[in-house]
Amino acid sequence: MTVTSEQSVLVIDYGAQYAQLIARRVRECKVFSEIIPHETSIEDIKKKNPSGLILSGGPMSVYEEGAPAIDPALFDLGVPVLGICYGMQLMAMNLGGKVEPTGIREYGKTEMFVTDEGVLLDELPLEQTVWMSHGDTVTAAPPGFKVISHTGVSPVAAMEDTKRRLFGVQFHPEVVHTPAGMEILKNFLYRGCDCLPTWTMSSIIEDSVADIRERVGGEEIICGLSGGVDSAVAAVLVHKAVGDQLTCVFVDTGLMRMNEADEVVETFGRHHKMKLIHVDATERFLKKLEGVEDPEVKRKTIGAEFIRVFEEEAVGLKDAKFLVQGTLYPDIIESGTKDAARIKSHHNVGGLPDDMKFQLIEPLRALFKDEVRAVGEELGLPEEIVWRQPFPGPGLAVRIIGEVTKERVDILQLADAIVIEEIKRANLYREIWQSFAVLPCIKSVGVMGDGRTYAYPIVLRAVTSEDAMTADWARIPHDVLERISSRVINEVKGVNRVAYDISSKPPSTIEWE
Ligand code: XMP
Repeated sequence: MTVTSEQSVLVIDYGAQYAQLIARRVRECKVFSEIIPHETSIEDIKKKNPSGLILSGGPMSVYEEGAPAIDPALFDLGVPVLGICYGMQLMAMNLGGKVEPTGIREYGKTEMFVTDEGVLLDELPLEQTVWMSHGDTVTAAPPGFKVISHTGVSPVAAMEDTKRRLFGVQFHPEVVHTPAGMEILKNFLYRGCDCLPTWTMSSIIEDSVADIRERVGGEEIICGLSGGVDSAVAAVLVHKAVGDQLTCVFVDTGLMRMNEADEVVETFGRHHKMKLIHVDATERFLKKLEGVEDPEVKRKTIGAEFIRVFEEEAVGLKDAKFLVQGTLYPDIIESGTKDAARIKSHHNVGGLPDDMKFQLIEPLRALFKDEVRAVGEELGLPEEIVWRQPFPGPGLAVRIIGEVTKERVDILQLADAIVIEEIKRANLYREIWQSFAVLPCIKSVGVMGDGRTYAYPIVLRAVTSEDAMTADWARIPHDVLERISSRVINEVKGVNRVAYDISSKPPSTIEWE
């Protein structure tokens, strides 16, 4: 089940660091786009009935041994093709042009001179800056192609054969350093491929709702809600499609952020009027965590207990045939490429047991995170849920360094709420990837009023990141740090010190456990 569209443009990935970015840019032009590995057969490409193809860049030289090749039959499909960088060189080499290692690497912002606007560069400046990153150069365009621009180093910076609807650019239109890049992509999409800008958030919702209805018929569906944005948007989308055929299960471990459980019940149960099973399992989880200090044992204990609670609740729902998961597009791309091994495996909602023979409904599997957020907004989910920072499955337990007790959870929850409140007040909540409090269970001496204190410190952790794979500590202004520190120490009983964690990932991780 995908949120696709009748028109789609396939990005064939030759190992570019920018392949995802190309697909995102095409989507920003309101045309659906998917990334496919370069090993995909012509037959499989034809089955997808694309309106256009984009050959991405890649790190290798077309002459290098083992460099990814192209089946020239691709150019005879009658489907418009845009080759970018390595993609253009493949096109030139296979259609009778010339690609040469010039010995000069052209890298960075480069002046480009347009000699013939053609389709691709129509109505764009005759001199413009483009972003280059290549060693080899197309020195002669293939027969039938017109050279439409050049730079000091590249005699063929852009070329096109409008009869066969084949286009090539040596530069990267997808990066922001090519100011006219989006216009060039639009020229390819709207004029080269005759695509229409119809892929919008409302069309995604409409198509998805129709798709889910058709697939599910009158069957029952269950969905594990975590309070995070992905499962929330997936649930609301499915609910819009099938209403009360959907039952959501929310397991409150007692290890959530302050008010999070109430917000989930309020948003889904009351506002969206979904059938919601709210399991308050706080006591159970605390009991299981008694005496547990080792981070891995903690995680496993929580994971196992979660499954047990979910299983118990799902007994009454055993007739459900479908299970909703909030899988996103990056998970799908990563499982579809040879490089999958280096990416962490994506988790199941709530770690459901294998012997539950559900069929999966993954209504977000074609979307990037920001698109999921846009769909969430369009569906009327509150900002607090749509823009909520990520939160680990085991919750506050992995932010209490040492044994988890009720007293420590209460301290951390309150400190964390103050951190979030102040980060929001400083308008930093969206630009910071995650900002939270950690409670290392050591004590230090302080002085309050005339008395000595011996209490916990709180560590503030705030990072910027694109995808959580790497992260940098956030440069929070000193006055914001000061407010957080003084509020936490004054308002949270049992805390007398605040420290700021200034480590990046790697070598540290975002969470402390
Ligand atoms: P680390 O600490 O490995 O975290 O740098 C990377 C990102 O993953 C989140 N995280 C988790 N998310 N289940 C989740 O769903 C987990 O067990 C889990 N552990 C860490 C973390 O918050 C950060 O965004």
